[in-house]
Amino acid sequence: MNSHHNGHKTLSPQPYVWSEPPLGEAKSLPPAFYTDPAIFKAEMEHIHLKNWFFAGRVDEVAKRGDYRTFDTVGGPALLIRGDDGVLRAFANVCRHRSSTLLEGCGTARRIICPYHAWSYRLDGTLAGAPNMSEVPNFDPSHSSHKLAEIRMEIWEGAIFLDYDDTAPSLAEHLGNLPDLLGSHRFGEMVCTWRTEIETRCNWKMLLENAMETYHTGIVHAATIGAQRSVSFPTVGEWQSFQVLSTQSIAVLKDKPPFPAIEGLSEQSKQGTHFTLIHPTTQFASAQDCIWWLAVRPVAVDHSILSIGGCFPRSYTEQPDFPQLAAPYYKRWEAVAREDVGILEKQQRGLSSRLARPGQLCWRDDMILAMNRWVVGRLPAHIVEGVFE
Ligand code: FES
Ligand SMILES: [Fe+2]
Repeated sequence: MNSHHNGHKTLSPQPYVWSEPPLGEAKSLPPAFYTDPAIFKAEMEHIHLKNWFFAGRVDEVAKRGDYRTFDTVGGPALLIRGDDGVLRAFANVCRHRSSTLLEGCGTARRIICPYHAWSYRLDGTLAGAPNMSEVPNFDPSHSSHKLAEIRMEIWEGAIFLDYDDTAPSLAEHLGNLPDLLGSHRFGEMVCTWRTEIETRCNWKMLLENAMETYHTGIVHAATIGAQRSVSFPTVGEWQSFQVLSTQSIAVLKDKPPFPAIEGLSEQSKQGTHFTLIHPTTQFASAQDCIWWLAVRPVAVDHSILSIGGCFPRSYTEQPDFPQLAAPYYKRWEAVAREDVGILEKQQRGLSSRLARPGQLCWRDDMILAMNRWVVGRLPAHIVEGVFE
């Protein structure tokens, strides 16, 4: 039954989410989807450059002039908060001859190119360009000299970017996800930890792995162990299941140091929601925190996994917060490294001449749905040759 909480509906779990073909006939994707550079190229064009991807939290760039640089599927990017308090996303690329501009993160008054010192205001407009006043027809205020802006939308403090200006809005993409996660009040959380892991595997494998509990009793025998989960039907470009556990699974065996978030929905009290926002973002929402996995595809067998953790602001203001939060960071990194270890074995196996699609288990329901989402977005001529 749907119940209402703070104006949000709570979604109801199902035994599993399934779509054609029926269980017993459903198979994993042909290995070429994980090894063929031509398919990777098609995914870049038709999936990654057309969909919303997660790019960090607004609280990481909270004050005027705060910036963060990072790589994306569309190249080097930059988030910066203007003098007007507005957060903007730009290509981190100079308009003169395309050097990158800022590095890492920090606070800036001006963005100054390290090559010939063209300088930009925080809103991306060109402020100065040495020797250019002697160049005929050079108009520094012309829009072609302003930093290229990347489409950005924010949901509950989570920043999403999209290189496709014609893509549906983030709200449309997220569909009824706010109904499931609304009571966590992600917008009132603060990111307190991040790391990045370089992986030798295809981007899809990292997300597939993050969306099933079939492997957890084996791969994570020494850490989180076996898990029980239920699935949720969803509306929008996302998928969801919940690992059932009345206490937070964001720490290993010990009792969670933080209490449950106040006002959590009845459903959210039952365990951790693992949501995949297609194509590359996962939010894991436990009773006391939210952590993300965001994957950046680099090559068909090379991906960067970003992991970050967020807590309610009130928790982070406790004097002993760093000690209390340490076991969460330890768990997130340890479990991710166990996953990457098995995925690198899977990538090697997929490169075999004899690798073939295998029969799926009912516990692979999310995998099937994710694979269908990807295949459905690629042009027929790419897909046809791969399925026999
Ligand atoms: S490339 Fe930036 S000033 Fe020349
Ligand atoms: Fe795992």
